[in-house]
Amino acid sequence: MGKTIFITGASAGLGKATAILFQSRGWNVIATMRNPEKESQLDKLENVTVLRLDVTDPSQIASAVEQSIALGKVDVVFNNAGYGLMGALETLTDEQVVRQVNTNLLGVIRVTQAFIQHFRQSGGGVFLSTTSMGGLLTFPMHSIYHATKFAVEGWSEGMSFELGIHNILIKTIAPGGISTEFLGRSLDRTRTEDYRKLEDPLFALMDKMMDAAAAPLEIAKIVYEAATDGKDQIRYVAGADANAMYNRRLEIGSEESRKEIRKMILG
Ligand SMILES: NC(=O)c1ccc[n+]([C@@H]2O[C@H](COP(=O)([O-])OP(=O)(O)OC[C@H]3O[C@@H](n4cnc5c(N)ncnc54)[C@H](OP(=O)(O)O)[C@@H]3O)[C@@H](O)[C@H]2O)c1
Repeated sequence: MGKTIFITGASAGLGKATAILFQSRGWNVIATMRNPEKESQLDKLENVTVLRLDVTDPSQIASAVEQSIALGKVDVVFNNAGYGLMGALETLTDEQVVRQVNTNLLGVIRVTQAFIQHFRQSGGGVFLSTTSMGGLLTFPMHSIYHATKFAVEGWSEGMSFELGIHNILIKTIAPGGISTEFLGRSLDRTRTEDYRKLEDPLFALMDKMMDAAAAPLEIAKIVYEAATDGKDQIRYVAGADANAMYNRRLEIGSEESRKEIRKMILG
């Protein structure tokens, strides 16, 4: 019996690429998604089980985790589901803010919590979460997205102590641009005239960055490395752009990095 990975947000992008990569390397894959009835690729692959999971719904989390454990030992849990929220805070509704936090942060915390006992009983495991270079540095107009991704970074580091004593690893994958549907259907975006001064150059910069975006498979390979290298390492910065920007921040410090990014946008 091969090892098993449980993935959230496996219907598209990085989640799907990761499901296909692990399957091709002999793993059992539990590919979870909001609308399994729409899936027409993963459900045809051997050793892939497709389950329903909207990570904002605690009862679906309980049910998906229970069904997964019933199939056998789960070795790796990959919290990948997420989307972007863009807009000045004063223009966002409370509903938009709550949905972003529920998906990108509470979804990760709840899915992880639901698997801890199983990992303890089966002697260990690995938790992985997709954060972003936006969990390590910031751009304008994405404050709530950053709040969730910085939170997952800090939370993962904090969790490493209590999980470590049970032989459980917890890690983050922090990618830069990935050529997925993230800036298309996965972006909840509110625009206003009042912030055009920031938004226009920001979008020009993001378009430029997406031209050099990594293929999902490239990032999925880093997920594989994090899942299998056994290293006591929290953070896997993924992609040339994310590494260049994060290294620059470490080199000049967070205050100078923020000023440099502001200059990049506002001139
Ligand atoms: N693409 C980038 O440039 C980039 C950069 C840095 C970090 N990331 C992160 O990478 C992760 C994956 O995004 P992606 O780039 O692969 O984008 P994507 O192709 O749009 O995939 C996003 C996935 O998340 C799922 N999802 C959204 N809300 C969900 C919910 N409530 N419950 C369950 N699944 C949900 C989507 O499912 P549906 O099909 O049901 O909508 C989809 O499977 C996200 O956490 C994102 O923040 C992306």
